[in-house]
Amino acid sequence: MATRATTTGILSEDKAAEREQIIELLKKAYWMEIETVMSYIANSVNPDGVRAQEIIESLQEDIQEELGHAQQFAARIKELYGVVPGSLEFAAEQSYLQPPDHQTDIVHVVKGVIEAESGAIEHYNHIIEVTDGVDFVTQDMVIAILRDEEGHRRLFEGYLREYETEGLA
Ligand SMILES: [Fe+2]
Ligand SMILES: [Fe+2]
Repeated sequence: MATRATTTGILSEDKAAEREQIIELLKKAYWMEIETVMSYIANSVNPDGVRAQEIIESLQEDIQEELGHAQQFAARIKELYGVVPGSLEFAAEQSYLQPPDHQTDIVHVVKGVIEAESGAIEHYNHIIEVTDGVDFVTQDMVIAILRDEEGHRRLFEGYLREYETEGLA
C-alpha cells in the first residue's frame, strides 16, 4: 500500500519551495546556536576576578539552553525533509565574543553576550514572520526559543546597567 501523501500543511508536496526556504533559515539558526555554545564555554571559563563569578555561573546555565536550542533546530530541519549540515559548513561570525585582552574585562563579555542574543532575537523574529500561516509548528518552536533569548538578553542588560551605574561601562 502506497503511503498517503500529505495534502495539508508544510509537509505537503506543493510546499517544497517553502520548506527549502525555512530549512535554510533553520540552518543559520542552528549554526548561531552552535557558535554561541562555543563562545559561552570560553567566556564561562576565561574571566578572572570577584565580579566574574556571577557572569560565569550565568553563562554556564545558558550553555545548556543554547545546546538544547541547537538540537531543536536540527530536529526540525529533519522533520522538514532537510539534512542537518556537517561541521565543514560552519563559518564563525561572533567577532564580538572573542577573549578580551585582559581576562578581568567583564564588560567586554557582557556586551558580547548582549550582541549575540540580539542577533538571535533578530533572526528568530524573521523566522516567525516567514513561517506565519505557512508552518505553525516551526513558528511555535521558534517563539518559545525567542522567549529564552529575550530572557538572556534582559539578564545581561541588567548586568550592564550595574556596571554603567558604577562607571565601569
Ligand atoms: Fe539560543
Ligand atoms: Fe541565548
